[in-house]
Amino acid sequence: MTDHGSTLHGSTLGTTHEDTHGAAPLAQTLDALRIALGDDSVRVGEQIGERALTDWTRHDPTRPAALLLPRTTEEVSRALAICHAAHQPVVPQGGMTGLSGGAIARATDIALSLERLSGIEEIDTASATLTVRAGTTLQAAQEAAAAAGFELALDLGARGSCQIGGNLATNAGGNRVIQSGTARDQVLGLEVVLANGDVLTSLGKMVKNNTGYDLKHWFIGSEGTLGVMTRAVLRLHPQRAARHTALVALDQYDAAVNLLRRLSTRFGNDIGAFEIMWPDFYNFGVKLTGARSPFADAHPLYALIEHASFDASDDGERFSAALTEALDAGAIRDAVIAQSVADARALWAIRECTAEFPVRLDAINFDVSLPIGEIGAFVERCRAALDERWPGNASYFFGHIGDSNLHVTVDGHSIAGVDHHAVYAFVYEMLGPLHGSVSAEHGIGLLKREFLPISRSPAELAAMAAIRQALDPHGILNPGKLF
Ligand code: FAD
Ligand code: LAC
Ligand code: ZN
Repeated sequence: MTDHGSTLHGSTLGTTHEDTHGAAPLAQTLDALRIALGDDSVRVGEQIGERALTDWTRHDPTRPAALLLPRTTEEVSRALAICHAAHQPVVPQGGMTGLSGGAIARATDIALSLERLSGIEEIDTASATLTVRAGTTLQAAQEAAAAAGFELALDLGARGSCQIGGNLATNAGGNRVIQSGTARDQVLGLEVVLANGDVLTSLGKMVKNNTGYDLKHWFIGSEGTLGVMTRAVLRLHPQRAARHTALVALDQYDAAVNLLRRLSTRFGNDIGAFEIMWPDFYNFGVKLTGARSPFADAHPLYALIEHASFDASDDGERFSAALTEALDAGAIRDAVIAQSVADARALWAIRECTAEFPVRLDAINFDVSLPIGEIGAFVERCRAALDERWPGNASYFFGHIGDSNLHVTVDGHSIAGVDHHAVYAFVYEMLGPLHGSVSAEHGIGLLKREFLPISRSPAELAAMAAIRQALDPHGILNPGKLF
């Protein structure tokens, strides 16, 4: 199916689909779903695998009333039309790597997995676009782009499991935002199935399209509350043929910001990642990878920096010279530059130890954002306040600092008996006066719902609620999430 125009299939919102004007019994809804999708695509009870029970937070694993596994946009449409008519809540599920509980269903919800709706539909080399089904993993999409000589400039540690639909639903950030923007910035076209089954197909490949509201932006970042995304046209970038990765040791946070500015002045957009790790996180990552720190000494702060240029003959000399200059000027304490792809992977493995957090820790995750110049002082204050409130707590500070995004993970095991909620409230209270955001990239989901008003005004919340009500009048899409 390659419908690349803009169309609205199905009925006008909420008018022609059969509406029972009230909740239908679950058994009746499941019968209708089995007829529409086939028995094999409607699972219940023990047929539902562990994966559908919770996301990467491991919060409150719950078996949904049923799991739907549609194969096509049309099947998603039929499923939602039935659930809309029955007032049956539906929770879209992607790769289940989310870190805010957004894809966790309640026992009375029906989960709708996009995993079978996967695959690359088209790579258009003239337009430099990739048309992809929502259930495709990010890594599969990256590999398809690379095989065609392009780069999909979205990257995050969960790449092997997270799906394009989940990336767009959370407007994921990740490691390349400083260079190429968030997931939102990669989207040219989108296909979405609305709560009542109507299909909005807007798979245009044009960069410019001023024909009224740009509807795709309502769905990107809406965390499964406004529609189910089924296909997308993603923007491809030219491949950056030469990549150089460095791990830099620093005195203090302000030195990191100065280094970022120094490198940006010299290399502009070729600085592709600027990740900061405070020692607690860095030591944890080094220990997990089983490697030794490349530095003989311990340092107050570490930066993982990627230089990525289009010129294949760029041997990294200029990048290396810039770091040597910074060293000579006393702007940095030490630096190692990866000499091979394996070296670079080993450095990234330290940063990507977050994949192990749910296994090793009782992780209480924060993904706040605040002005880049204020992050260092915030970390000091936050650490001191946590130590005073919960002496002996183990907390890990790191983040995509080039994008003003700080991560803090507090290990609940280190403060046994303390409710996660108390830790959320404690940290967010410190963030409020700085006008920071309670979520830079993971979204609000279930776990940050009550803290959304810290970052959004009553007028903004009312506008969001009005949009949700208009697109999903029966409130069936991911109820209880976001707000
Ligand atoms: P899920 O967890 O399945 O769902 C997330 C939300 O999207 C839910 O609300 C769900 O209802 C909704 N949803 C899923 N698919 C659809 C669809 N097709 N249509 C409508 N709604 C849908 N995130 C970052 O932003 N930056 C990072 O650097 C980052 N690093 C991570 C590293 C690790 C090791 C892990 C485990 C996670 C990381 N994450 C990061 C969080 C997570 O990977 C991202 O949020 C990812 O985009 C979620 O994709 P998913 O397919 O797993 O979505
Ligand atoms: C990361 C996740 C936690 O940046 O967002 O590793
Ligand atoms: Zn992150």
